[in-house]
Amino acid sequence: MRFRQWPAHGRRLAIGVSVLALTLTTAGAAVGAAPTNETALVPTRAAASASIETRVDDLLKQMTVDEKLQQVQLLPDFLVTDNDVRNGLGSVLSLTDPVRINQLQHLAVEQSRLHIPILFAFDTIHGFRTIFPIPLGAASSFDPNVAQTDQSIGARESAAVGLKQIYAPMVDVSHEPRWGRIAEAAGEDPYLNSVFAAARVHGAQGDDYSAPDKVVASPKHFVAYGQPEGGRDYNTTDLSEQRLRNFYLPPFKAAVDAGADTVMCSFNAINGVPGCANPYTETNILKNEWGFDGFIESDWTAVAELRACPPVNPVSPGDCGHGVAADGPDAGAKALMSGTDSEMTSTNIRDFGKQLLADGRITMARLDDAVRRILRVKFRAGLFEHPYVDPAQAASKQLLPDAVAAARTAASRSMVLLKNQGKTLPLDPAKSTVVIGPLGDDQHDMLGPWWGVGRDQDAVTVFDGIKAQSPNTTFVEACTIVHADPPDNTADDVCGSDAGFAGAVAAAQSADQIVLALGESREQSGEAASRVDIDLPGKQQQLIDAIKATGKPFVVVLFNGRPLTLGRVDASAPAIVEAWFPGVQAGNAVADVLFGKVNPGGKLPVSFPQAVGQIPIYYNHEPAGRPCNVASKWNSRYRDLPTCAPLYSFGYGLSYSTFQLSNLRLGNTSMAKNGKINISVDVTNTAGPKGDEVVQLYLHDPVASISQPVRRLRGFQRVTLDPGARTRVTFTLDAGDVGFYDNRGQFVVESGQIDVYASTSSVGGLTASFTVR
Ligand code: BGC
Repeated sequence: MRFRQWPAHGRRLAIGVSVLALTLTTAGAAVGAAPTNETALVPTRAAASASIETRVDDLLKQMTVDEKLQQVQLLPDFLVTDNDVRNGLGSVLSLTDPVRINQLQHLAVEQSRLHIPILFAFDTIHGFRTIFPIPLGAASSFDPNVAQTDQSIGARESAAVGLKQIYAPMVDVSHEPRWGRIAEAAGEDPYLNSVFAAARVHGAQGDDYSAPDKVVASPKHFVAYGQPEGGRDYNTTDLSEQRLRNFYLPPFKAAVDAGADTVMCSFNAINGVPGCANPYTETNILKNEWGFDGFIESDWTAVAELRACPPVNPVSPGDCGHGVAADGPDAGAKALMSGTDSEMTSTNIRDFGKQLLADGRITMARLDDAVRRILRVKFRAGLFEHPYVDPAQAASKQLLPDAVAAARTAASRSMVLLKNQGKTLPLDPAKSTVVIGPLGDDQHDMLGPWWGVGRDQDAVTVFDGIKAQSPNTTFVEACTIVHADPPDNTADDVCGSDAGFAGAVAAAQSADQIVLALGESREQSGEAASRVDIDLPGKQQQLIDAIKATGKPFVVVLFNGRPLTLGRVDASAPAIVEAWFPGVQAGNAVADVLFGKVNPGGKLPVSFPQAVGQIPIYYNHEPAGRPCNVASKWNSRYRDLPTCAPLYSFGYGLSYSTFQLSNLRLGNTSMAKNGKINISVDVTNTAGPKGDEVVQLYLHDPVASISQPVRRLRGFQRVTLDPGARTRVTFTLDAGDVGFYDNRGQFVVESGQIDVYASTSSVGGLTASFTVR
């Protein structure tokens, strides 16, 4: 067993700038033939599938057991040896230098016995070089085009260096703001996550991921990794069958339906069964029920982590873990036989596979199936026809003007206006402005927790963005972010000292308006970044209080990767913009929103709790036997909190305009179980400038065989309306919308009433009902 040498996410890697003239060859179409010339056949996917299966079969027949075991191995850049490659290594992750990728690919294609190309993979989560808003931010746009464009540009930039698989989208529904990885997916709702998952898969893969600017997507982490107990990353999860199927599986299903051909199994266990050794989720559901014919790769050392830990700690990540396997061979056998096809970083299936076969603990049929799946994806990816990349072209595909423009649009569409008392916003660019705060002139943190090969210097700071639109702007940091170095085991110090506050107050007093740029460091969210306290870190609240005391108009702009407990911020700031980590165009997008070039229209994809003790708090909860009523005692409430609501609800977000919904109409009073029903509602821009509203459609099944969520999102549409303009939004529902999974794992559509809510957040709105017959 070898162990992780953190960081391994390509964070230390840069795009190769070498323009070494490599001779490009193109593999011949014949299976196993060394590539010689440009005569490759590139059939369409439909026509190709039969021939792909034949080619896979031909290849499989020629493979030795050792070659099969190498094919199911996935190694990070720093563990790969030339020998692994000559022996037929399957995949490599986190290599982003096209010259090195080509070198290894030449070795694989020319010097391995069967000339099988390597699949190169990378975590292009919210951008490769052009970094987009974090996925939680992109979800706030309620505009799937934002996510699709992000992934499409990420695919183009990734493919340009020779990558052909990305470990994205991350589609883990989560009710856990303490969990740092909530930043990486679309929040707490399965429907929103599903729509965004499909959009991201389409963006990455297009119709055919063999295209030179496309990559195969890998939704992760299968499954229910978003619900670790206590919000502690990697921790265990216990959940019912109906929860699994109603909350956590749908985004994966949507991703697979959109064509995702690879899936990553998760680190955590559900109901005591680790994600990469779970025959029920991996084989029964994903492969058999859903007909997924691609492959499942394990998460990093997740196979090794099946083993038991020794009684004496400490241990390093990857040493051991769940205790469902006695040793490495047992771990390899359990993973493979449960349905895991490819082992990342640890090497148990490869190292012990021969012995396991001899002992009858794994079967050749299952090993062949795993290899077949991997080869199938490689054929579909066109790797046999086009194994190489042109390193001379790689740099020219990065950070192109259209990508940068799209990142700016994505960022401004992702911002959520949380408060705007007395029309503090938009600010007037003709006035004098001071930007204050530790994130005010900060490039590093704008990129968020998965920055691919993005570089700090690519990012536009808040100060620069605001100054560009309002030249009379100054900046005072007030307090600093000291990034821990190395980041692994110490915490970043965010605004730990108030020594600079007096200077900030003086600057505020002499400016007309103030922008406070506050939040988290990027290392405070993301993987292995759970927090028990999700208030604004350090002394940032005191900074707000000091600025408030000046009496000057100010806005708090927040940069963070998770919902924060913002009760005190809300009580003190007249205006609040949730900007998330916006990516390379952070400052320009913030300025667009603050000065009203862009009228904010984002909505929260996740509830913001009042207090950590409320977690998990999410809008689509089931009703309790004694639903919350803070006016009396014997019901589901906290004695020390005068409300059961979050501070900001799912779906909430303001605009510089006001909108009104009216005329909620159902196409019928009833819907047949196999039928459809149309639901429509008018939305009007009643006051203010041209702007966006997100019309949201929720359902509730008031009487069902198992208690149903008080609301479930089943449709949304972001519309842009001129002042005074009105439009009609129509949703069509069918059985998939009104039914649910029960605890036997059956999808049931029950007769009876369905309540409909058309609203502009998960609270309130217009309501009507229909009957399912
Ligand atoms: C993460 C995955 C990621 C993998 C490879 C793991 O630690 O959980 O999301 O894809 O590393 O970088």
